[in-house]
Amino acid sequence: MTELITGIGELTTHDDSGERRHDAALVIGAGRILWIGRAAKAPAADKRTDVDGRAVLPGWVDPHTHLVFGGDRSAEFEARMNGQAYAAGGITTTVDATRAATEDQLVATARRLRHEAEEQGTTFLETKTGYGLDVASETRSARAAARVADVVTFLGAHIVPVGLDRRDYLDLVTGPMLAAVRPYVQFIDAFCERGAFDVEETREVLLAGRAAGLGVRVHGNQLGFSGGVQLAAELGAASVDHCNYLEPADIDALAAGTTVATLLPACDLSTRQPFAPARQLLDAGVTIALATNCNPGTSYTTSMPFCVATAVLQMGLTVSEAVWAATRGAARSLGRDQGADAIGSLQVGGRADLQVLNAPSISHLAYRPGVPLTGAVWRTGVRVER
Ligand code: NIG
Repeated sequence: MTELITGIGELTTHDDSGERRHDAALVIGAGRILWIGRAAKAPAADKRTDVDGRAVLPGWVDPHTHLVFGGDRSAEFEARMNGQAYAAGGITTTVDATRAATEDQLVATARRLRHEAEEQGTTFLETKTGYGLDVASETRSARAAARVADVVTFLGAHIVPVGLDRRDYLDLVTGPMLAAVRPYVQFIDAFCERGAFDVEETREVLLAGRAAGLGVRVHGNQLGFSGGVQLAAELGAASVDHCNYLEPADIDALAAGTTVATLLPACDLSTRQPFAPARQLLDAGVTIALATNCNPGTSYTTSMPFCVATAVLQMGLTVSEAVWAATRGAARSLGRDQGADAIGSLQVGGRADLQVLNAPSISHLAYRPGVPLTGAVWRTGVRVER
């Protein structure tokens, strides 16, 4: 079964040309893009879908979420909006609720959030453990995550759970916990921050994960100058996430390497932190990605369009830069922007993950902020029910 998508007002492919094309059409089939070219030259297909002048672009790739959790932290959020500062200690509330939930309850919550994301054009997402923090609960979280997400990250090093000795906990994370979650995860991550883990502790965790064959991600420089960004660059991590507090040396280190800076605008708003310096990073030659960081503490949104609009309106990105960061840049942060299984771009032979906006151009994502513009979504060539 092949499908011709035609009537496209503006096609954003994120192929290496980086152009937005007009009068283009594409054919999908067997989960892949089979053909892209001028509409007038389109080959015949089993089915024809006319999108009537709307914009077509890759589905969003969300490379940083924490969807496996129990409970809710709206009271903490409201206290923050009343002036209280965010601190890593709030994670404990979610740990208690996550341990109290069943695996099916955790999966149901994560599926509901994934569905919410899909309704807004997300076709691929990563999620993390990190609210279990004992071997049984982290393993359950990793298994639940693998039932819902495309990529799973082990975040046993989120905080040291209440009542445990730091050294004992690090031994647990890098030993039995890592071994137990290993079948379900592809990346390891650690929260390098005051109130969580310092640079040497973070290094120890990440190296243990790497030795077990995992890719490396880091939560770095979210609440202060934690050293996490430079550590990520030094280790050649796939991604360092947050990046709110950066010194020139941090930016230089990222620019000299391949680590993607994954920025989380909705989290910056919800924690009232300064926005990550997206413009400076791009101007220095750093690859950036955008993500929702959906979690019950610091960023309870699944909306990639909201992140794109905020990146344009508040962080100084152009529309094209923000859309690239939320698709191909996000794919790069997951090591998935090249090769046969590439995501985040529309290229012949690549996965048919795409969306149609109820708008003629991607500029409307920021021009009409807050308006639900997602029209239709295809994931591996299959139209997502919405
Ligand atoms: O990415 N920073 C660490 N982890 C999450 C928040 C965790 C929480 O407060 O529940 C984040 O913001």
